[in-house]
Amino acid sequence: MSQQTKDLVEESPAVAAPPSPARLTLDGKEYELPVTVGSEGEVGLDIAKLRAQSGAITLDPGYGNTGACESAITFIDGEAGILRYRGYPIEEIAGQASFTEICYLLIYGQLPNVQELKAFEDRLTYHTMIHEDMKKFFDGFPSSAHPMAMLSSMVVSLSTYYPEDGRGRDLDLTMARLLAKGPTIAAASYKKNIGQPFVYPRNDLSYCSNFLHMMFSVPAEPYNVRPVLDRALNLLLILHADHEQNCSTSTVRMVGSSQANLFASISAGICALWGPLHGGANQAVIEMLGRIQADGGDYKKYVDMAKDKASGFRLMGFGHRVYKNFDPRAKILKQTVDEVLAEIGVNDPLLEIAKSLEEVALHDEFFIERKLYPNVDFYSGIIYRAMGIPTNMFTVLFALGRMPGWIAHWKEMLDDPQTRINRPRQIYTGATQRPFVPVSER
Ligand code: ACO
Repeated sequence: MSQQTKDLVEESPAVAAPPSPARLTLDGKEYELPVTVGSEGEVGLDIAKLRAQSGAITLDPGYGNTGACESAITFIDGEAGILRYRGYPIEEIAGQASFTEICYLLIYGQLPNVQELKAFEDRLTYHTMIHEDMKKFFDGFPSSAHPMAMLSSMVVSLSTYYPEDGRGRDLDLTMARLLAKGPTIAAASYKKNIGQPFVYPRNDLSYCSNFLHMMFSVPAEPYNVRPVLDRALNLLLILHADHEQNCSTSTVRMVGSSQANLFASISAGICALWGPLHGGANQAVIEMLGRIQADGGDYKKYVDMAKDKASGFRLMGFGHRVYKNFDPRAKILKQTVDEVLAEIGVNDPLLEIAKSLEEVALHDEFFIERKLYPNVDFYSGIIYRAMGIPTNMFTVLFALGRMPGWIAHWKEMLDDPQTRINRPRQIYTGATQRPFVPVSER
């Protein structure tokens, strides 16, 4: 719990007894706003009736102070660097759990027992193939197509083959199809880029090994997945599995709130993830490090550039809307990166540049003042690179990791009786009423 939140909770008897409403004075009139307190003491002012009572709305560009829903999936305390999936700390999950266990945990709310996990994994294995006709969709893409564009197109296309809306009794099957076919589509996008034949999934492999097999094997020779690659991918997918109401997850919820089907909602989430300020940052980090290297390795120059607003340059992989101390996922990756690279047998000069850049930035007043720290994307790209994953596939890997989180939020939204179609308001600042002038008179 952040200090600010602690203070709020300790100051009022809010946690034990129902908290007393907050009071808002507007134009001399007083309004009562009910207060909601979460299980970790987070305090929310309920403004649902504010406009009906006062005519006013709240204004919060970027939604930095707006809670769009109540959720029981993931807890983050950005001030304290805490991330928990369904109550389990990310540090305990990372390295101990399998990604499929975490998919189950996020979607169904509790860790599976041995039988439940086996049944879930069997289902994911059974549904890995995509319809043969869907392979033809790839023929229409240029070989230079960005794999995120192909992934999002193919995911929404799944709704042409499975037109059920995914609700009701089909929900478990629809969710399993998406989780199972995601890696197959992602690997096929890569094969399309490099002109190699698509590789069929193998049911005897784990979720991660199967993906690596579809990415890297070719029909001409045998391919054995190295255990270190399986472990590294498992860790990366887990670290990306959910992050509460981020841009892409909120997109999934927003699209889903209109009762669009699961595939359509997730496809929209993939598009939101693609941007360099969100999941696209992992690609942008490697491109930035490559640029620094090509420019002679003078990382201090780039730190100075990032401090100069006029340059328009930001240190990619730095800063976070929520984490203001450290990103616990970045901490885990920083501890892991040397180990993984050593085991894979890769010595990447970009890692040295990244470490030096981080060191300088962490001691610089500009970054300290603004609480800017490396985020999950700062080191993930270096591990992907060492694994042989091309840069334009990094965000696709992020999407595969985030898939269970998106699904869990979509499902939670559907089950929540408070859900209404998402429809924010605005403060209009355009022209006031004026008469229309016909074109001949303009
Ligand atoms: N480099 C330099 N300055 C930065 C950076 C950065 N990476 N990030 C933020 N700042 C500065 C801003 O210029 C601003 O300075 P000011 O107060 O003097 O105007 C201040 O820090 C606050 O920045 P905002 O943009 O207001 O912060 P916001 O919460 O809106 O943005 C974001 C967060 C998008 C992550 C931002 O830090 C950023 O652009 N980082 C680089 C991209 C990145 O790594 N994105 C991945 C995020 S993690 C994820 O999605 C998985």
